[in-house]
Amino acid sequence: MRRGGNLIPMAQGLPESEFVGIDLSASQIADGQAMVDAVELKNIRLNHLDILDVDAGFGQFDYIIAHGGYSWVPSQVQDKILEVCRQNLAPNGVAYVSYNTYPGWHLHGAIRDMMLYHTRQVAEPAEQIAQARELLDFLAESVLTKSNAYAGFLHSYVNYVKERFLPDGDDAYLFHNELAEVNEPVYFYQFAERAAGHGLRYLAEAQFQTMLAGNLPDKVSVSLRQMAKNTIALEQYMDFLRNRMFRQTLLCHQEVQLKSKLTPERLAKFYVASSALPKNPEIDIHSTSVDKFYAPNGDTLATDHPVTKAAMLYLTEVWPQAVAFNTLLLAAYSRLNGSGDSTPDFASPGFANDMQILGAGLLNAYSYNEDIVELHVHAPRFVREISERPVASPVARFQAKRNTRITNLRHELIQLEGLSHYLLSYLDGSWSRAALLKVLQNLLIEGTIEVEQDGKPLKAPADIKRALPEMLEAALRSLADAALLVG
Ligand SMILES: C[S@@+](CC[C@H](N)C(=O)[O-])C[C@H]1O[C@@H](n2cnc3c(N)ncnc32)[C@H](O)[C@@H]1O
Repeated sequence: MRRGGNLIPMAQGLPESEFVGIDLSASQIADGQAMVDAVELKNIRLNHLDILDVDAGFGQFDYIIAHGGYSWVPSQVQDKILEVCRQNLAPNGVAYVSYNTYPGWHLHGAIRDMMLYHTRQVAEPAEQIAQARELLDFLAESVLTKSNAYAGFLHSYVNYVKERFLPDGDDAYLFHNELAEVNEPVYFYQFAERAAGHGLRYLAEAQFQTMLAGNLPDKVSVSLRQMAKNTIALEQYMDFLRNRMFRQTLLCHQEVQLKSKLTPERLAKFYVASSALPKNPEIDIHSTSVDKFYAPNGDTLATDHPVTKAAMLYLTEVWPQAVAFNTLLLAAYSRLNGSGDSTPDFASPGFANDMQILGAGLLNAYSYNEDIVELHVHAPRFVREISERPVASPVARFQAKRNTRITNLRHELIQLEGLSHYLLSYLDGSWSRAALLKVLQNLLIEGTIEVEQDGKPLKAPADIKRALPEMLEAALRSLADAALLVG
């Protein structure tokens, strides 16, 4: 548990659930506790505890999360993580364990070895990180043959480290993840065997889309299915193909009977969200010609089914909120019928058919890529309307005072800049829009905070007074759209 950065926002988002976090590091627990106290959360406990001391009496949990730990602890602690996942997991519970995998870590591990060699005399972490980064840049720039596979790998690794591990200059990631004393990657099949030895069954990968061979080209998918005799082998071959280096694996009790067939009926228990937009905003939802909805990354959902078109338009309007599948179906029906009160005939074959087609379309899109359709097990509690005295997520307000990286109510890390960032810490419900305008105006005129307009700093008092009302509304809108407002 790293300062509770994952667990605390979850506890805020799910007030009826109870959360317990443990860490061997007293400072991680103290940092997390400071946030829990500031946010006044009552449904979370953080314990300064060695996982080796967790016994059956610690309690039973519906979910156990061990993220970013397994590969960095000695073998005895790895076994204990799996033992806890068995011993403290409720009968139908799900455990999440993330870990580094081969074959990806073979190449990755070579760079780690080089960085460890280069910094072997350095004791101070900040200096070790600085020297490791210097070595990376040196290697990428100086590799002797520029166009071979090794040079390509070095370049992509340097970019990977820059993008993935140093957001906001957080060098601690490089230190914890790449330079840690213990780092023991495994092949997926080895992890699955070890989990089975602890009475645990492979349930799924948290990044569900990577499990589906159907997402690979047809020829590859057919060959893989012939080669692999079971799910574990199939996943292992896919790791070979992708040179996978990290997994986020879900485990359950060995005794659980899994129904692995995906059917549209399963969607009835889920909430759906989508930001995909139709190419043509004026689309005729009644027509049975094919229309396409585009996700921000360019992937598409194509459909000729009027109910699916109406449902997708509804999702676009309420984005980023997630809607219960049945509510979505009814919303699509009422949009097609042109009124809010026309109740469909639930027993009719037509209704059952529409439910199947909508469910299958959404499930297909989700199985391909979460950028088109998201599935959730609950609807996060945030508001899209901006009230007269807006209230932002307490966790986000706490984070905004220290950092520009904030966790929203959709449990995403987002980067806030400029006015939205300054504004966030004021949104405790005690400030009216007029009062917010006044305080921000004063801060800007005094020069305590700075914002830009059209790429230029906004400095002159007259310009500030003129531009600020609109900027404030835009900033509030961006916070609402980013799922940060709760009232
Ligand atoms: C690499 S950090 C990852 C933490 C976090 N899940 C994240 O993603 O940022 C691993 C954490 O495991 C803790 N840890 C290591 N050994 C432990 C043990 N035996 N019992 C409990 N926590 C342990 C460390 O103190 C550290 O905070």
